[in-house]
Amino acid sequence: MKLVHALGILAIGVVSLVIGILIGRFAIAPELPEWLRSMSHDGNPKYRYELQKEIQTHKIEQNLKYFSSKPHIAGSSQEEDVLANYIYTTWKSSLNGAKIYNYTVLLSYPNSTDPNYVAIVSSDGTESDISDKVEKILSPDQNDSTVVNPFNAYSPSGVIVGDPVYVNYGAVEDFHYLTRNLSMNLNGTVAIARYGKIFRGDKVKNGQTFGCAGMILYSDPADYVAGDLDRVFPHDWWLPGTGAQRGTVFNTDGDPLTPFYPAIESAFSLDEKDISNLPLIPVTPIGYNDAQKYLSKMAGIEAPSAWKGKLNLMYRVGPGFESPFEERKLKLYVKSYNVKKTIRNVIGFIEGKYEPDRYVVLGNHRDAWVFGAIDPSSGTAAMMELSRSMARMLEKGWRPRRSILFCSWGAEEYGLIGSTEWVEEMGKVLGPRTVAYLNVDLSLAGNSTLRALATPILHKLLFEAAKTVENPNPDEVKAGRKTVFDTWVANLPSSHDPTIPRVGDLGSGSDYSSFLQILGISSADVRYTYDQKYSLSSYPMYHSVYETMDLVSRIMDRGFKYHQAVARLWGEMALRLSDDVIVTLDCVQYATTMQRIVSDVEKTYGPLLQKKGITFDTVKEAANKFEAATHALQNRAENANKQNPLEVRKINDQLMLLERAFIDPLGVAGNLYYRHVIYAPNQHNLYAASSFPGLAAAMFDIEHDLNQELRWQQVQKEISILAYTINSAASTMQDHGKIGGGGVQR
Ligand SMILES: *[C@@H]1O[C@H](CO)[C@@H](O)[C@H](O)[C@H]1NC(C)=O
Ligand SMILES: *[C@@H]1O[C@H](CO)[C@@H](O)[C@H](O)[C@H]1NC(C)=O
Ligand SMILES: *[C@@H]1O[C@H](CO)[C@@H](O)[C@H](O)[C@H]1NC(C)=O
Ligand SMILES: *[C@@H]1O[C@H](CO)[C@@H](O)[C@H](O)[C@H]1NC(C)=O
Ligand SMILES: *[C@@H]1O[C@H](CO)[C@@H](O)[C@H](O)[C@H]1NC(C)=O
Ligand SMILES: *[C@@H]1O[C@H](CO)[C@@H](O)[C@H](O)[C@H]1NC(C)=O
Ligand SMILES: [Zn+2]
Repeated sequence: MKLVHALGILAIGVVSLVIGILIGRFAIAPELPEWLRSMSHDGNPKYRYELQKEIQTHKIEQNLKYFSSKPHIAGSSQEEDVLANYIYTTWKSSLNGAKIYNYTVLLSYPNSTDPNYVAIVSSDGTESDISDKVEKILSPDQNDSTVVNPFNAYSPSGVIVGDPVYVNYGAVEDFHYLTRNLSMNLNGTVAIARYGKIFRGDKVKNGQTFGCAGMILYSDPADYVAGDLDRVFPHDWWLPGTGAQRGTVFNTDGDPLTPFYPAIESAFSLDEKDISNLPLIPVTPIGYNDAQKYLSKMAGIEAPSAWKGKLNLMYRVGPGFESPFEERKLKLYVKSYNVKKTIRNVIGFIEGKYEPDRYVVLGNHRDAWVFGAIDPSSGTAAMMELSRSMARMLEKGWRPRRSILFCSWGAEEYGLIGSTEWVEEMGKVLGPRTVAYLNVDLSLAGNSTLRALATPILHKLLFEAAKTVENPNPDEVKAGRKTVFDTWVANLPSSHDPTIPRVGDLGSGSDYSSFLQILGISSADVRYTYDQKYSLSSYPMYHSVYETMDLVSRIMDRGFKYHQAVARLWGEMALRLSDDVIVTLDCVQYATTMQRIVSDVEKTYGPLLQKKGITFDTVKEAANKFEAATHALQNRAENANKQNPLEVRKINDQLMLLERAFIDPLGVAGNLYYRHVIYAPNQHNLYAASSFPGLAAAMFDIEHDLNQELRWQQVQKEISILAYTINSAASTMQDHGKIGGGGVQR
């Protein structure tokens, strides 16, 4: 009794105290107006949870069936009319609006009645061992009269007859081996290069540089079949010997006719002969059944062990065929043509409630080489389900704080054309207003683990989002890995911190390229991928006719759970970026990564630089200053008064625009297509990224340069550009109204 009584008195005391405090508080601070109160709250996690729940596997499956039912190459009516209109109509009726952006650009096709091929030809012109002109149909769903035969976009037409040489992956190092170690003269030869490791356009460029007259690209089983050669598609997902990888061999981004400007009606268009970076030698792809016929007859010394693929033959480098075929040549027959076509981007938007002029941009390309059930329609299927789910949330009363844009790009396969033209047209708007660009080129290249590419400022968001997405693999869940993050970190741990997953750097493999490389917009690209133990060059069926709904629904994602996981992750990231008061961009991670790059670069080049008396200290100092500035900015972000919209916007702008500071308008190493000083595509492999790319390019193969003085001057120039740019980026993070960075006070 007594105890209860005492507690009662205590409770009355506490309640009075609380009331007293509240009265005191409101006597000092007047209540915030409703509009200010509601805009100073982070997004409600309830909406993110509901969005994830809304995303359904069977809807994604329906989408994929629709999008991959017919071939939809860029410029075709299926792609530019049927699919583009479908997306436009869907978004126009369910989101806050939609637009179509048309561009008339240069595309390339093989002659449908006169297909490309390869053959062995004798001195009297007789052809034997002719390669397949079409990919063999292995299941009825591949039988469609609009399938475009294997070709490499923008290859010139031509008939080349020459001695074959095997050039491995066609990398610069491979050509150096032939020309330097073996003193081989490649002039007039027909190079046989295997796909993989580097972008195919770089292979062709190298072949051209070293004098080859033509090139044949084939997919070696070593790079595309990890299983048994008798158990390839349709039994399993490995590439069959009849599959050929299509793909562009154009070495830059955007419409070849209108570099740096949008291909709109008023645009000045180049003459085709004035286009730089188009290949000058004919090239065509073949499958490994055909490659076997040529490689097995090669003369010359045995190829180094790293050059040997998995075909059952002795890999020899050539040149020429061995006895009794030594009089014969290899013939390459290419009949492709370039033609102007109109392509379309479809953009759908959801208008932000408080900051409609800040954009979170989501994109996926729509065009495919053939049916595209993986590339890109697995991504399209996820995007359409994500946009449908967001539309449902709009119906339920959700409105994002910032605007969300959905982008369906045209003509990505030819050289990121749709996205690049749009970035060129809209750059002045996008540059100052875009929070981030989130790309899903394809939802899955396999079903083993998530893989992500991103600039460092988005790593934290990726990790946090992946922790909220249910693991699509029931076996992984049973093993205690409940989320996408858990499997990710277990499969691809970061090499310097095993508690976080590895995130790759962005090269120029997909539509994020122009966002990042021209405008400096922080970007990410996510997908599920295959087990890295396979050491494949890509998923086996990449860009072949066999990339169909059947492959996906029967083998790669039975049940569509992996698609669903990617769509959920994408949505989670988008909602965090659109709804949190302070944008979820982690500048400190940029500094951490930068310090690591600095120390890696010092390890790699330090001794050589030292010998030349060149110091890297200015870059190190800049990186330190940058690091300190990120901590100060993060501190302000964490302690920001979220009820002060001006303070919120100031900090958000500094976070959002940090990446912009890395853009050099003069391009990296003078290449105007790639301007990001910290990350740009590797000079010899467009797919991969180089850190400090200008310096990497200046140092590449430097000991062989005949003009040593000029090259070392270039190295010094690159170091000064790095130091300057990193210092500038640090200055952008300073708080005060007085001009930051540089200068002295007198
Ligand atoms: C784009 O093309 C479509 C179909 O040809 C046409 O209806 C539309 O007006 C075009 N839009 C623009 C902005 O040119
Ligand atoms: C395709 O080849 C045929 C036969 O060689 C030729 O008549 C036709 O003009 C070619 N088509 C194109 C678009 O080049
Ligand atoms: C493909 O379809 C055509 C027309 O329907 C048919 O004549 C042909 O036999 C089919 N080919 C294969 C390999 O199924
Ligand atoms: C080619 O020559 C270089 C320099 O002599 C040597 O380091 C390299 O190992 C050689 N490459 C091969 C594959 O033998
Ligand atoms: C390559 O061959 C062509 C013709 O066969 C010849 O005109 C040219 O000079 C040769 N170039 C080199 C670098 O050997
Ligand atoms: C995952 O991919 C493998 C091929 O790598 C396939 O055998 C398996 O069926 C796939 N799992 C699902 C659930 O689709
Ligand atoms: Zn793609």
